[in-house]
Amino acid sequence: MRRAFSCGGHGKTAQLNHPDAGQITARKEMPMPTLNEIRSTFLNFFERNDHRIVDSSPLVPRNDPTLMFTNSGMVQFKNCFTGVEHRDYTRATTSQKCVRAGGKHNDLDNVGYTARHHTFFEMLGNFSFGDYFKEQAIPYAWDLLTKDFGIDKSKLLVTVYHTDDEAASIWKKYAGLSDDRIIRIATDDNFWSMGATGPCGPCTEIFYDHGPDIWGGPPGSAEEDGDRFIEIWNLVFMQNERFEDGTQRDLDMQSIDTGMGLERIGALLQGKHDNYDTDLMRALIEASAHATSQDPDGPGNVHHRVIADHLRSTSFLMADGVMPSNEGRGYVLRRIMRRAMRHAHLLGAKDPVMHRLVPALVAQMGQAYPELGRAQSMIEETLRLEETRFKQTLDRGLRLLDDELGDLPEGAALPGETAFKLYDTFGFPLDLTQDALREKGRSVDTEGFDAAMAEQKAKARAAWSGSGEAADAAVWFDIAEDKGTTDFLGYDTEIAEGQITALVASGAPVAVAKTGETVQIVLNQTPFYAESGGQVGDQGLLKTETGTARITDTKKVAGVFIHFAEVTEGEVTSGQAAQLAVDHARRSAIRANHSATHLLHEALREALGDHVAQRGSLNAEDRLRFDFSHTKPLSDDELAKVEADVNAYIRQNSAVETRIMSPDDARGLGAQALFGEKYGDEVRVVSMGFEEGSGRGPDGQTYSIELCGGTHVRQTGDIGVFVALGDSASSAGVRRIEALTGAAAFDYLSGQSARLSSIAQDLKARPDEVVERVKSLMDERRALSNEVAQLRRELAMAGGPGDGGGSEVREINGVKFIAQVLSGVQGKDLPPLIDEHKARLGSGAVLLMADTGGKVAVAAGVTDDLTTRVSAVDLVRAAVAEMGGKGGGGRPDMAQGGGSDISQSEAAIKAAEGVIST
Ligand code: ALA
Repeated sequence: MRRAFSCGGHGKTAQLNHPDAGQITARKEMPMPTLNEIRSTFLNFFERNDHRIVDSSPLVPRNDPTLMFTNSGMVQFKNCFTGVEHRDYTRATTSQKCVRAGGKHNDLDNVGYTARHHTFFEMLGNFSFGDYFKEQAIPYAWDLLTKDFGIDKSKLLVTVYHTDDEAASIWKKYAGLSDDRIIRIATDDNFWSMGATGPCGPCTEIFYDHGPDIWGGPPGSAEEDGDRFIEIWNLVFMQNERFEDGTQRDLDMQSIDTGMGLERIGALLQGKHDNYDTDLMRALIEASAHATSQDPDGPGNVHHRVIADHLRSTSFLMADGVMPSNEGRGYVLRRIMRRAMRHAHLLGAKDPVMHRLVPALVAQMGQAYPELGRAQSMIEETLRLEETRFKQTLDRGLRLLDDELGDLPEGAALPGETAFKLYDTFGFPLDLTQDALREKGRSVDTEGFDAAMAEQKAKARAAWSGSGEAADAAVWFDIAEDKGTTDFLGYDTEIAEGQITALVASGAPVAVAKTGETVQIVLNQTPFYAESGGQVGDQGLLKTETGTARITDTKKVAGVFIHFAEVTEGEVTSGQAAQLAVDHARRSAIRANHSATHLLHEALREALGDHVAQRGSLNAEDRLRFDFSHTKPLSDDELAKVEADVNAYIRQNSAVETRIMSPDDARGLGAQALFGEKYGDEVRVVSMGFEEGSGRGPDGQTYSIELCGGTHVRQTGDIGVFVALGDSASSAGVRRIEALTGAAAFDYLSGQSARLSSIAQDLKARPDEVVERVKSLMDERRALSNEVAQLRRELAMAGGPGDGGGSEVREINGVKFIAQVLSGVQGKDLPPLIDEHKARLGSGAVLLMADTGGKVAVAAGVTDDLTTRVSAVDLVRAAVAEMGGKGGGGRPDMAQGGGSDISQSEAAIKAAEGVIST
């Protein structure tokens, strides 16, 4: 099987300073086209021939988890060839961004030293999905090369797969190539496949002959590795598909996939031997020369070449959402950056250089790839930050390296431990150390490096299990170590493919999970957000060739994303490729809640003061909760203002921006740090809203700026609407606001409105009259109940139906005494009745008992002249004790108590009389 289109050509490639460099002439009497023009000519040619010009897909493949980076034009069409996916066109043409660094196709080490290696390059291609086949693909290629590009026919020759008579005869007939210029190749060199599995087929490659002055032989010969014959275009006749078990099938339809490196065809058309001498690369090299004040063609030319190439790969990777980190793709990016930065250092640069070159790159490529311009400020900021930090340790690390080398015997390899120390303490990726040693003709003991790395990981694991955080965390550490951590793709996509690296059930790895089983699934990459920073984990669907699983939650441990799943159909197996789809509606609601939380935080600070700091939060799909430091409840006005502010910033509909920077820089911009979170080297900063003179953000005009790893809306308007449900106490000094956004807020509001209408209907009023109407109803009700109470009292005094008996005045021991059992009055009605009785008596004592439904209210009164003889408190206590109650209290002239048994009222009266008579 053949490697993917190699921008490095056959094995060894031209070294620098080739004797023939800059001397070739492929075309006669034609103005020299720029790389941008060549790209357009290619795309326009195929557009003219009914092909759809399709945008380059991102460098992070969404549909192929086995690939670290997109490395050829067909990656985005993989499923179109196998018939799994259908698009509304059957002919396409692209200029595809490709990165070859890390993973299987790693050209990093060669870049700078050879004429045709790049970490980033553009692959031009035309594609047919069951439309035309070789009879058309060969003529297209021939016409474009010889007519539109004007390449001298006599310089071209081709290879075909040894059994492909058809292709050979088309070449012969259409291009008029003689048999000696149609070379049959029996090896996999002319049978192209994208990997161990997937679509594949025989291919034909077009070569350019630089003439006998350059050493090298035609393809298939012993001298093919020379530089005379250079492959320029590969046409693949997609007709088979390979499977994991080694079997192969014929595809239902025959398709075309082609690939031509823009830099290489550009060099040819510009009469250069070296891709780095093309106009585009040259502009970048000159920018590097200018920024470092070093001759572009002087002794430092390798450094400029490395910088020019790495500037492209790093910028394009960041534009596609990869950020420097210590894992996965982010780490590959960091390695490329640091390699470029070391070369800038070798050019004597004192200050960071890379970020200053970005404008030159955007000027060259921003039109063809608008994403570059959109991300420009973020790319510059990230490069500047990385280089500033890396510079601080680079000097010390290089000194350490020199010291160590001084102590080593001539030519000995650098001990792995030293390389690891450079990695661990100074952030030197292993390949950077190797690169630095390469100039000195030395190597590194990589086994020793691996051993030192393994030892450090073991220590990290021990530290983790010692922290007592989840005893079963060991299984996730094992997975992290054996299979690697999970790359999170979910900031910019909700749909992607991933490869299942492990299945875990009941804390132990399993090979397969069947229908009905619950299992935890780990993948090498995922768009699912794992619960953190208050944002809940994503839910959604996972599908493989053999089964479907519902993802109910996502969490992460040690960089491993754990998808909690229930297999709903068939079975899923470790190692399978899986299609992942986050529940879009749910995630959108979560995004809206999370972004609203940021606006809420800022609105609270503005309304209440700078002491407001986040103390916790929840961003779920149905609501948000925000806990913050503040000691008093919010007044209605404060809450209304906060709610109005948040909604005003939602309506402002400003773009939500994310950037990566150092924690210090972030604080310098006025970012609100989240409570209790630990931050690493760099933080993600999310900003939104525009507020004149806020003093926050790079422009001093940003409303909200926070450190946050969560997912957010694109524009604040996406939040829709914000409704605060109220404020409550969460714990001492911490208040809590619960709120709704978007559809949930709307549903809430429309529910409120429906209730209002229904009340209005009952009141026979318009909704806007309801408040007044209810107020007057309440007033009326209050007046009526006062009136009722008054009437009851009057009735009771008059001995009416409320009088349960004996309101006549008795005389005990010379004291006038009225005792009465009432019904239909409340406990609170008794004191005014007592007062009336006392007034009527002039001098005497009163005992009133009212049955209030299961309870008995008791009150007693004594006129002031008698209180030294009889206390109302004693009267109540004596009465209450008879009626199943206890206690009672008040003043000597008026006391109250309660009992439970009205049937004992006679006994109570007797007891009170007893008190008066003693
Ligand atoms: N996919 C083919 C290659 O990469 C065209 O060479």
